[in-house]
Amino acid sequence: MPGHIYVKGEKVSLASIVRGDLPLIWRLFGDPEVRRFMGIGVTPLYPEDEEEWYERARRNRSQIVFGIVETGSDRLVGVADLHGIAWAARVAEIGYWVGREYWGRGYATEAVSLLVQYAFEMLGLEKLWARVYEPNRASIAVLEKNGFQPAGRLKRHAYLPGHGLVDVLVYELLR
Ligand SMILES: CC(C)(COP(=O)(O)OP(=O)(O)OC[C@H]1O[C@@H](n2cnc3c(N)ncnc32)[C@H](O)[C@@H]1OP(=O)(O)O)[C@@H](O)C(=O)NCCC(=O)NCCS
Repeated sequence: MPGHIYVKGEKVSLASIVRGDLPLIWRLFGDPEVRRFMGIGVTPLYPEDEEEWYERARRNRSQIVFGIVETGSDRLVGVADLHGIAWAARVAEIGYWVGREYWGRGYATEAVSLLVQYAFEMLGLEKLWARVYEPNRASIAVLEKNGFQPAGRLKRHAYLPGHGLVDVLVYELLR
């Protein structure tokens, strides 16, 4: 059961993550299909990696991590975060993933809209941006449905198993 809810939506909400969520996060995020498009490669993920990630994220003042929590079941179904927060420029990069069994239900689209709301209305940030591999059409759809605009392209910038070298697209959203 995740912690406190910070932004409430219809299908999902954003809640703080507590240590007890880590085994579930490890199960969902340990799925190589979920990490495939996240630049983390296909190396195994261990439960201890999640604990280290949690401790680092908890102490990192330039990162804010939320669990994506399903309305009704109160189950954690994914994670959405702001990272590289530049407090002076009021800019942050966003990241997100949803467990494979929950794909295609509009959860990521709503989670990103809640993250945008949190960043602009509660933190007073001025700009959000994201990086996405060109073959990741679902993630591009999530960004575009939330009003993010293409801001650039890094050609043949990342290696993706099954795709080879792929372009990295940069998207931005101004307040
Ligand atoms: C990308 C991801 C977060 C999307 O999560 P989700 O909850 O399934 O997304 P949603 O249901 O909100 O919306 C996905 C949209 O992408 C579209 N989509 C899905 N697969 C697609 C494909 N192969 N081509 C084009 N569009 C696609 C869906 O149709 C939907 O748009 P619609 O509502 O207009 O129909 C999820 O697939 C994921 O966690 N992937 C692995 C991690 C990742 O890639 N994170 C982002 C890194 S930049």
